[in-house]
Amino acid sequence: MTLVIARTREELAAERSSFGTIALVPTMGALHEGHRSLMRRARGLAGTVAVSIFVNPLQFGPNEDLDRYPRTLTDDLAVCADEGVGLVFAPTVETMYPEGRSTGVTVSAGEMGTIVEGASRPGHFDGVLTVVLKLFNLVRPEIAVFGEKDAQQLAMIRRMVADLNVPVWIDACPTVRENDGLALSSRNRYLSPPERVTALSLSLALRRGAAAAPDGPAKVLKAARSVLDEAADTEPPLELDYVKLVDPTTFHEVDEDYVGPAVLAVAGTVGSTHLIDNTPLYLTPEPPTETR
Ligand code: PAF
Repeated sequence: MTLVIARTREELAAERSSFGTIALVPTMGALHEGHRSLMRRARGLAGTVAVSIFVNPLQFGPNEDLDRYPRTLTDDLAVCADEGVGLVFAPTVETMYPEGRSTGVTVSAGEMGTIVEGASRPGHFDGVLTVVLKLFNLVRPEIAVFGEKDAQQLAMIRRMVADLNVPVWIDACPTVRENDGLALSSRNRYLSPPERVTALSLSLALRRGAAAAPDGPAKVLKAARSVLDEAADTEPPLELDYVKLVDPTTFHEVDEDYVGPAVLAVAGTVGSTHLIDNTPLYLTPEPPTETR
């Protein structure tokens, strides 16, 4: 299949009518194996896979890595061609946010945008939802595929689509990991070898936490925290942002006696790299203490 590349809204509009059903994979580029898994999933869902490549300034805070975020369009296009993608939309910032021609209307992520990852990154989810809705309106996909690695983002996009009656089916793919457990992320390329070793504490904490799921929420958090505390004392250290056990749809922390599906979410900084990871798990009640 020939890869069609649209850089402007006009080019995209001209090309869109020649494609039938589209499954969109929205990305910020720097494509890796995790993105490839989304493209493969999309390929099984629709006649055409479209990929958007856009580093969205609206979702970066003032002290975040917008300027140094990797921009690797040539390599990204090769990945898309390799994965049988039919259409790439790679707009400029000016195309997405034309200066002087915007009324400043954005999507508000609401209360859920202010908790967990949203508490550390004020405004981040407003920026994500705004660009995702704009991409949906421009590309007009029937389906969109996101990664479970950004579990809160995925939950919020599902809410937006339901609340605003957006006619796009949201599909998701499990997190892709390196053999040693590190979740794939475009930001991993910032990590020096020693920082990468420290970063492994995030996925290890999730594995230890998940293994404690049959013992209830308190034990899950205790097991995860003990790994993260140790990582805080290593060199280079992990600066823990949060470790939380949350309801998968609301992202509110679950109670100590909660039973049911949950997400164990963790975030921290190693060197100057902010990393997030999570695992889904099922919490069963704490077994009764034995009495004689
Ligand atoms: O997950 C991402 O890469 C971004 O947040 C997204 C969904 C492409 C919006 O910019």
